[in-house]
Formats: sequence, structure tokens, C-alpha cells
Amino acid sequence: MRVVTLPAPDDFDAWRDAARGLVADDVPAEDVVWQVGAESTDLFAATADPVPAPAPGAMSVPRAFLDLARNAILHSDPERFALLYALLARLRSQPKLLEDRADPLVRRLDGLAKNVRRDIHKMRAFLRFREMPEDDATRYVAWFEPDHHIVRANAAFFVNRFASMSWSILTPEVSLHWDGAALSEGPGAAKADAPDGDPVEEVWKTYYASIFNPARVKVGAMLKEMPRKYWKNMPETALVPGLLAAAQARESGMIEKARGAIGGNAQIAWEALREEAMGCTRCHLHRHATQTVFGEGPVTASLMFVGEQPGDQEDLAGHPFVGPAGQVFDRALAQAGIDRADAYVTNAVKHFKFEQRAKRRIHAKPDAGEIEACRWWIEQERMLLRPRVTVALGATAARSLFGKVMTISRERGRALRLPDGGSEAWITVHPSYLLRLPDKAQAEEEFERFVEDLRLANAAAA
Ligand code: URA
Repeated sequence: MRVVTLPAPDDFDAWRDAARGLVADDVPAEDVVWQVGAESTDLFAATADPVPAPAPGAMSVPRAFLDLARNAILHSDPERFALLYALLARLRSQPKLLEDRADPLVRRLDGLAKNVRRDIHKMRAFLRFREMPEDDATRYVAWFEPDHHIVRANAAFFVNRFASMSWSILTPEVSLHWDGAALSEGPGAAKADAPDGDPVEEVWKTYYASIFNPARVKVGAMLKEMPRKYWKNMPETALVPGLLAAAQARESGMIEKARGAIGGNAQIAWEALREEAMGCTRCHLHRHATQTVFGEGPVTASLMFVGEQPGDQEDLAGHPFVGPAGQVFDRALAQAGIDRADAYVTNAVKHFKFEQRAKRRIHAKPDAGEIEACRWWIEQERMLLRPRVTVALGATAARSLFGKVMTISRERGRALRLPDGGSEAWITVHPSYLLRLPDKAQAEEEFERFVEDLRLANAAAA
């Protein structure tokens, strides 16, 4: 029996050092007890053998394992250390084990890592600072209750985003303090230690007003999207009654005004939107997908492409159109003279829907309810970007954008008007359709038609 006592519940380096030594010594997973400093007891320690010293370089592990382990270790599940060690030990004889997404251990650890990623994003999206006078300066203080041990892992994000402020983030486990130059840590706190009152981050209010669509207000849905736990802390909830009351009077001019108020901060608003989407649970698809795959590209793009949903590779990479369909798309864009870096590329549905067949994840078409649930995001993306032209790649994208079934063969090749107030849209086929055509000559012909559609849309956006 070996007992490993880690100094802190999120100490990846300590876990890695111990695991390296143990694995080099061939210690089976069931012979190791993992515990964390404060919870440790001498129950096992008296009879335990020493833990071998770290053996650097003894075993090289795939990068994907390190990525998985760095996230999973932050989970609150007390078994995480042992599970990760068991996986590490198996990787010695099964170096490709991580690719086997049907393996129960891989799946379980993937699930832990996913929960952690979502918690990290929730902290970024839902934490709100309140003002606290301090000598002759102001300190911004926020209270947050994470589900997992993510606070230290998130520190760099807050330091970067709020570099010039003095702030403290209080959580039950640990407190972070930034004075504009250095980060320090303190013990956990209670909610009562943080000030009450209005949160101060004006840009959030402006952001929220800019994406508030009175025609689609569903307070219940908003509450669902922003978990109740965080709802009470957020400035935008205070805005809701006013926005609702003024809803009838406000037309799309409201959005224009709010965007003006943001003063070119569409990028910040987009980043905030993306953060929120990372924790999306609007439909069940988030349960099995690895992550939300949000749109990408400049917020100033005049051309927006909307695909169906991320595929297997997009789900793993976290970026749209990077797999086989993405390669066809890139080739067609290049032939149409469009630089992908100038366009915004997104999907109607932001999570990968698939059926697991043995070790493979087979793409499954999103249904009407899933498309509808995800329309929330595409509408926010379109409201922020206001592209001159939106191109629907395939039937799912067309259905999402137009809110009804559209026949591609009938509608392609001409400018259409979207029901959002008449902005311009084009419909064409999905690149994966071109991949499925068995006849080479037909595939080439269809590819040329696809390129021509892209060219026309691009000319309209110019
Ligand atoms: N298919 C899509 O519709 N979108 C992607 O991102 C990848 C494949």
C-alpha cells in the first residue's frame, strides 16, 4: 500500500510527480491511496510503503492525456486522482487508449474534464464584481461558488481581463487578491464577506441590453441559461423589468443604440457571449459532446457562414469546420477568392450530435427542437456582427436562419431576405454533401456550383 498526500486538491504537479514515480515502479492502481493535505489521516500511513521519487522521463504520455488530466484533477470527485493514475498505468501498454472513447474509464474522465471546463467557463461568464471603498482607492470584490476546484486555474484569466483594477475574488475554498501588480492568495471566505449592492461592470449591462430581444423574452428560458445560483448576483437581471416594460416601444433601433453605447466593444460582447455558450445546457446535446463549438472570425466580418453542427473533429478541437467537410469548404473558399480569415464561420447547432457505434461516433442530424434551442446563440451572434450577407450551408442552417424548412434546390443562387428585418441571406449546399457524392464527375460539377454560390454571396457582401 502506498499513500500519496497532495498538498492541495488542485495540485496537478504534485499528482504528476507522485504518479510518475509510482508508474515507474509498477505500482498497481489499487495499491495507492490518494489524499489531500487537510483531509489526510494516518490511518494508512503507518503501514504504507514509501512513495517512489518522481522518475522524470521514465514514461512519455500523449499530450491529450496531460490536457485531460489537468482539467479532471480539478473536479470535486474524490476518486479523480486514482482514476487518472489508473488511466496513466494502462497507457503504458495501450498507448492509443485515449482514442477509445467507448472505454468506460476514458469516458468517465472525459466527463469529469468536461464538467470542469464548464465550471471554468461559468466562473468567467457569471462572476460579477461589486465596488468596495479601500483607503483612497476602490477595490472590486466578487463572490463566487464554483462546483469544482477551478479558482486557481482561472486566476490568469481574471488577471488578464482586469489587469488595471484592484480586485478580490472570494470563494469558499480560497480567495484571490490582485493589486494591479501581484496576485496573492488567502483563505476561503463566506458570502457575507463580499459587499452587497449593484455589480459594477457596466459593459455587462450594455452587452446584455445589446442582445436583449424583446420579441423573444422568456424569463424562464433566461433563468435556465444563467443558472439560478448565479442569477441573483448578476446586474442584467436588474435590467429585465425595465427592458420588458419598454419592449413595445423598442424596435431594432434599441439594438443599434446599445451597440453604439458599447462603443466598438462588440469584440468584448462577443467574447462574453462565447463564454456563456461554453456552459450552454439549452438542450440535451451538451451531455455527450466534448465542448461547445462556437463561431469564429472577426466581429466586423460582412460575410457569415452558417453550417449545421460540429462534427467529430470539430468537437474535439473546439473549432468549426476543421474536419473533412472543413477541408472541402476551405478549398471552395479559396477557389471563390474568399479569405476565410475575413469571414465569420459558425454552426446552427453548437454541440456535436452523434450515435456511438463501437469506437466510432457517427454524426446524427439535429432535430427541430435542437435547432430551435440553439437559435438563441445564432441570433445573438448575428445581432452582434450584423453581417451584410449570411450564407446558409445546407438545410439545417437554412431552417435555423429562416425558422422554417427551405428547399435548397429551389432557393439557391439568389439573394433572399431573412425574417429578422430583411437582412440578406443566400442558401447553398453543405460541403459534406459534396463529400458524399459517389460519382466523380458529378462531385466536380457540384463543387463548381458550390464555388459559384460562394462567389455570388461574397460579391453581395462586398
Ligand atoms: N459540418 C458542419 O456543419 N460544421 C462543422 O463545423 C463541421 C462539419
